[in-house]
Amino acid sequence: METNRLSKKIEKILNKQLTKEANAAQVYLAYGAWADSEGFAGIANFLFRHSQEERNHMMKVMQYIMERGGRATISAIEAPSEDPKNLQDCFEKIFQHEIDNTNAIYEIVSLAQEEKDWATWNFGQWFVKEQIEEEALVLDLLDKLKIAGGAKATQESLYYFDSQLEQKEDEADLARDASAERP
Ligand SMILES: [Fe+2]
Ligand SMILES: [Fe+2]
Repeated sequence: METNRLSKKIEKILNKQLTKEANAAQVYLAYGAWADSEGFAGIANFLFRHSQEERNHMMKVMQYIMERGGRATISAIEAPSEDPKNLQDCFEKIFQHEIDNTNAIYEIVSLAQEEKDWATWNFGQWFVKEQIEEEALVLDLLDKLKIAGGAKATQESLYYFDSQLEQKEDEADLARDASAERP
């Protein structure tokens, strides 16, 4: 009896996503190491925490594949690209990375829709929402860096920016979750 509830195509694209999330964890880890070497301990801390979050995403995909009777496969992860040139470059690279990941999620949801695999479609929606948050989080970093002076930021404003990130929440608030009743 066939117990795998995933089609071959869906199983393949989900395994690809599993690797992609592991890859994202690797990128955040590498940028965290870079930020620390530049003296930005707060930013490094933020990036390390986020790396962990990407690893949680990886596990989430893995568990879903197994839950549906599929076979999770672990493949090699690429070495991250070279170090960012500066903080602006670092956050821009991260933003691009998140956009690529969002597009990969959209492919999963599209395929699930095409195959009428509503379970995977539903699973994919969690990631659609998560990606809105992730993009908002990085956009917020880029905005804050701009206020700190961007490429022309002084040591003092960068110091403040760095210390703020030490305590930054890992999750961004979404406009759609805001309500008028909130205090
Ligand atoms: Fe992720
Ligand atoms: Fe992400």
